Amino acid sequence: MTERDLIPTARRPRPRTYLMCAPEHFVVEYAINPWMDTTAPVDTDLAVKQWDVLRQTMVDLGHTVHVLTPQAGLPDMVFAANGGFVVDGVAYGAKFRYPQRADEAAAHRAFYESRAEYAFVAPTQINEGEGDFAYLPDAHGGIALAGYGFRTEPAAHAEAAEALGRPVISLKLVDPRFYHLDVALTVLDDENIAYYPGAFSEASQKVIAQLFPNAVIADEADALAFALNLVSDGRNVVINTESTAFADKLTAAGYHPVLVDLAELKKGGGSVKCCIAELRD
Ligand code: ARG
Repeated sequence: MTERDLIPTARRPRPRTYLMCAPEHFVVEYAINPWMDTTAPVDTDLAVKQWDVLRQTMVDLGHTVHVLTPQAGLPDMVFAANGGFVVDGVAYGAKFRYPQRADEAAAHRAFYESRAEYAFVAPTQINEGEGDFAYLPDAHGGIALAGYGFRTEPAAHAEAAEALGRPVISLKLVDPRFYHLDVALTVLDDENIAYYPGAFSEASQKVIAQLFPNAVIADEADALAFALNLVSDGRNVVINTESTAFADKLTAAGYHPVLVDLAELKKGGGSVKCCIAELRD
């Protein structure tokens, strides 16, 4: 027995496979969420540098990172989480809400179709991939959580359940600042989450509380810092540098926060998780 086996609360990391896309063409030239201000200057070179630290951080933590080739004219392509939702090697494709991002779906599809380990399922319903879908392999036998209200259509939740053969729990988002599930709720490990209750309808808050009685609770300030837009491997929680208050809460809960500065990408309305799709083989 190792020392860790003796500590029941020790958090164990699990190696992951991720998909990212450099913000080489990142600008804010249209506004499709309340964070985007087309008059605010964006430093694309700085965005690339910050993104590369994030990519290297994931590699240094022992994870595999695949990258998509960024395309001119698709400034939000850096938010790779929106391109699909992969569970057990099945990749349920994205269909973007707004025309400005529609062409990103083909780049993600081409990635999945070029790799033997993934079976691609084309969507008919509007959904923005892991922006609105999350997966917990050990909660209730393996369930997906799915957001609706701003981007993803509820009909896509049923389509995902059919594609993936997993229960999909629909959660209603009610605050436009938290327009995707992944800025309101995050998966910390294979069975637990953290979330900001105020982002959800009262009924959905009850659903979440019933399913996850031990969830870590974020407050409004945490959510506004995009603290919940994090990526955890079960122990190491990569989170943006604005979110120190929430990082302390994670430390208290036994996780290990790793801070990265993604200030430039916040101008697009995203942070750590938005940049990273998890590919679950
Ligand atoms: N500007 C992008 C949009 O509004 C940001 C997407 C952020 N991605 C995410 N997974 N929440 O679509």
